[in-house]
Amino acid sequence: MSISQASNVLIEWLDTFVTAEKKRFLIVGSGGREAAFALGLFRDVQLYAVIGHENPLIVDCVAKSGGSYVVGDVNDPQTVLNFAQEHLIDLAFVNADQSLANGVVDALLAGGFKAVGGIKDAARIEWDKIYSIRLMDKVCPEFTPFYRIVSDSAGLSSALSEFESRGLDVVVKPQGLTGGKGVKVMPEHLASYSDCSDYASSLLENGLGEDVLLVERLDGIEFTIMGITDGLHLAVSPASYDYPYRLEGDRGPGTGGMGCFTDCKNKLPFMTDHDLDACRTIMQRVIDDMRSRGLRFSGVLNGGFFKTRDGIKFMEFNSRFGDPEGLNILSVLETPFSELLMRMWDKTISDDIVFAKKASVIIYLVAAEYPDASPNRVDFEIDEEAVKDLGVTIYFASCVRTGSCRYETLKKSRVVAMGAISDTIEDASLLVREAIRRHVRGALEYRRDIGSIESLKELERRVSSL
Ligand code: GLY
Repeated sequence: MSISQASNVLIEWLDTFVTAEKKRFLIVGSGGREAAFALGLFRDVQLYAVIGHENPLIVDCVAKSGGSYVVGDVNDPQTVLNFAQEHLIDLAFVNADQSLANGVVDALLAGGFKAVGGIKDAARIEWDKIYSIRLMDKVCPEFTPFYRIVSDSAGLSSALSEFESRGLDVVVKPQGLTGGKGVKVMPEHLASYSDCSDYASSLLENGLGEDVLLVERLDGIEFTIMGITDGLHLAVSPASYDYPYRLEGDRGPGTGGMGCFTDCKNKLPFMTDHDLDACRTIMQRVIDDMRSRGLRFSGVLNGGFFKTRDGIKFMEFNSRFGDPEGLNILSVLETPFSELLMRMWDKTISDDIVFAKKASVIIYLVAAEYPDASPNRVDFEIDEEAVKDLGVTIYFASCVRTGSCRYETLKKSRVVAMGAISDTIEDASLLVREAIRRHVRGALEYRRDIGSIESLKELERRVSSL
């Protein structure tokens, strides 16, 4: 055996030893957000994953970490529990809306595992919008917009008359989870009260037996802050600005999010310290309320807020990292992600979580039909090395690898995200768009205005007209 062969054998043996020492972390889900989790974890832990499809980045990270994965139903508590038992997992992180709503955390805790994420009754803050707004109204009435809950056509018609007499436009929200795709806003998607009535009636009659939430359409700028919590303490992430509509200029249907940016400080350019304090107060009150009712919650409380002429207003909560917002936050997180997750479990979260003082931009590429499902799969190519050389990160989502630098979309959801950090939002946006333009081939679409200078100016204009 040559000296170099012998040293390779030694390195492999040492790797095995180091890998054996590493904790075994489990992630659940196979979207772009879970790919970002995998990227943030694979160097520090042995990574295990329950995935719905072979997301190329998750699969690579799992292999490099010395862990393993199974393709199965990520929303089925028993599937996740079985996998955790089989691999003697040290810590599980559950963060997808439907997995949380189905009680995956409850099952893991009952099985004796350390699991970060809300139990089903805590995650209700996301999977039941009516429960969520009532909770908000209870703990923070001053930040809650005007709303009405309707169960039948008589209630609907009297609620809409109230909105009309107050001169308020309406947002119609289904009660349950819709992946960001069921909420319709007046006048963008519903031109009149009569259209609101038709849409709300169709929801009431869809056979799910759910109520419908009508909320005043706030005039202001929407943003998100992630509350990183162990159920007791709270650290807040930099604020993010999301582009939820499918088409440039904020036109087209609502989506899970086409892209997002954060600035190089905690606040977005239009926010004050007072705004940040208000968001923090809201999230702390919600966490305190859940704890006081024995609802075990750890992980992320993702707060959606509006900055209005009258100050901050609440829009909605997610009981998890948003997607793509979570990708932005993880791209600037300097505290090791594995440490953050352990501290969520150990109840040692504090304000010492460190974020790089950099702006970040994430842009999603999607199939032409998105947010509808595509009839066919689409092939595409990405020159991964060239993208990496530009300093841009690829987060594969709803796609699988078919060859070297070749991929195929699945039939629904967002396909792949690309992200960069830089000193300014505009520079990060230019980097990502250059990577897409030069190194992605195939029939994928994206919004070119995410973090663009024109979009930032438009935002400034909207803020000054508040
Ligand atoms: N971007 C919205 C969500 O994660 O649901």
